[in-house]
Amino acid sequence: MTIPTPTSKGVAGLSGAPFPGIPDEATLGRLASEFFRALPGAPEPSFPSAPAPELSLVQSGPSIAPAPAPAVVPPDRVDPVGGAGAELGVPEAYAAALPTVAPPQPPAVADSAPVAVPGSPYYFIGEASPYTAPAAPENRIVAQSFGLPGEGELRSLLDEIVVGRAPAEAQGQPANTGGNFYFLDAARIPDTGPAARPPFDVNAVRRDFPILNERVNGKSLVWFDNAATTHKPQAVIDRLAYFYAHENSNIHRAAHELAARATDAYEAARSKVQRFLGAGSADEIVFVRGATEAINLVAKTWGAQNVGEGDEIVVSHLEHHANIVPWQQLAAEKGAKIRVIPVDDRGQVLLDEYRKLLNDRTKLVAVTQVSNALGTIVPVKEIVAAAHGVGAKALVDGAQSVSHLRVNVLALDADFFVFSGHKIFAPTGIGVVYGKKALLEAMPPWQGGGNMIADVSFERTLFQPPPNKFEAGTGNIADAVGLGAALDYVERIGLENIARYEHDLLAYATRGLAAIPGVRLIGTAADKASVASFVLAGYSTEEVGKALNEEGIAVRSGHHCAQPILRRFGVEATVRPSFAFYNTCEEIDRLLAVVRRLANGKGRAAA
Ligand code: ALA
Repeated sequence: MTIPTPTSKGVAGLSGAPFPGIPDEATLGRLASEFFRALPGAPEPSFPSAPAPELSLVQSGPSIAPAPAPAVVPPDRVDPVGGAGAELGVPEAYAAALPTVAPPQPPAVADSAPVAVPGSPYYFIGEASPYTAPAAPENRIVAQSFGLPGEGELRSLLDEIVVGRAPAEAQGQPANTGGNFYFLDAARIPDTGPAARPPFDVNAVRRDFPILNERVNGKSLVWFDNAATTHKPQAVIDRLAYFYAHENSNIHRAAHELAARATDAYEAARSKVQRFLGAGSADEIVFVRGATEAINLVAKTWGAQNVGEGDEIVVSHLEHHANIVPWQQLAAEKGAKIRVIPVDDRGQVLLDEYRKLLNDRTKLVAVTQVSNALGTIVPVKEIVAAAHGVGAKALVDGAQSVSHLRVNVLALDADFFVFSGHKIFAPTGIGVVYGKKALLEAMPPWQGGGNMIADVSFERTLFQPPPNKFEAGTGNIADAVGLGAALDYVERIGLENIARYEHDLLAYATRGLAAIPGVRLIGTAADKASVASFVLAGYSTEEVGKALNEEGIAVRSGHHCAQPILRRFGVEATVRPSFAFYNTCEEIDRLLAVVRRLANGKGRAAA
């Protein structure tokens, strides 16, 4: 076993260890603290050296002797209820140092090429891990070669429903007149011309997703349930396997090599999320289980602290239950009110109505960026700005947007932004809260336990600064690393390429569905992403879903955890094909054939 020895920070020796060269547990704990402080970029600690911790069991009163690690708490981290460190139960030897000590910094990490910093004894300094992601496929060619209509063809197809009489109109739904589908508006997605656009080869992309080779009911799988969850590219699967084969350890707590590797990989993933969202600091990124847990965290911390009796929380009619229920619970607890931004008959939020809801009692506006049930893209930038205009904070639910649109939290000026990893090709069980630093710092912690503390006594606990303050216990380390790999993958393809390809897919599906007699599209906003919700006259949504499943086509049919918005359209459920960049027009043709066959009468051959 090799304990890397920091070269300049005076790590305690290993004397007293039971075996030569192997430190005892207490020394390891101390080494860990010293070790991470000793990494480049970390501030020089200035507190006195800690006495070796001793466990002294005494019969009466609190009995645990000073914690092994020195309390490392900046002045603004000291529990506001308390006073000097000593009064807070902080061991005296450390308390004197409290006002002058900077918080511990995570090890400096980068995330790209695994090249060791020359002269560094640490393999991981300046890199995330020795793991090398597979090279991007070289053989990309244009998507149109694989069945995607060319732009001219697509426009003329779409003209049939947006300029001419849409078949859907005959079903009594609002007409999509005026040619204002967002995907017909070239200005919305900058087109620098084919030469300037990196080619996007959907078949090359599909080869990266092994599950797409599955067969279901004897047919090749068509995955149109991407709004529920996405599949994982081989790069993510490989990254997880590599983590467990070479890096697996708990993080932050020990000075052995695998702990360092795991910590590095985890913190590199945090930095990748920071860059992906355009956040100012990795400390603004908190790992949680998913968007639901993320919203609950904000409700139970910031909400509990800042929402009181008579205050108002504004949500939109489009919200997923995860962005309704936690606010209802908070409102019930505090005597606050929920106000709802209405939508028009196409599922677009009514901004003028929204502005009328805002007043000096509005504490928070919480809106989705893309509706999971309808696909509506919500103008969150305008919504956030108006919220700020009355002094409210704004939370944006990015669960359905991050895999389809480029997000920049600074440009949005969102106070909180949340998303789930599994909707963006990462594993389940990992998600993110972005919060502006000042807000995270002022918020109380949520769950208590290990990892989030700086010092614990029976009288008082001092917390770590964000993000650790909100990450009690052992987190989902491997899946956070997997999320980092997924974001790398998406960035390699390019969100702009993804958005362009997907909006053409959605246009193709919309046109095909709208032309089928008996189909009613639910949600026809001018700006949409990924989702083509519909109902079919004469069939329950379950029947349609079952017929599709028999052909190997996976869609979600049901209420999509968004009952209020479906009821706004007079339905309890829809059939919801939802697309990702690995889907094709050929797959959409297979779906259309089933829906057409059903529309023509059960048991009849496809038209
Ligand atoms: N929120 C997920 C969906 O829309 C589960 O299906």
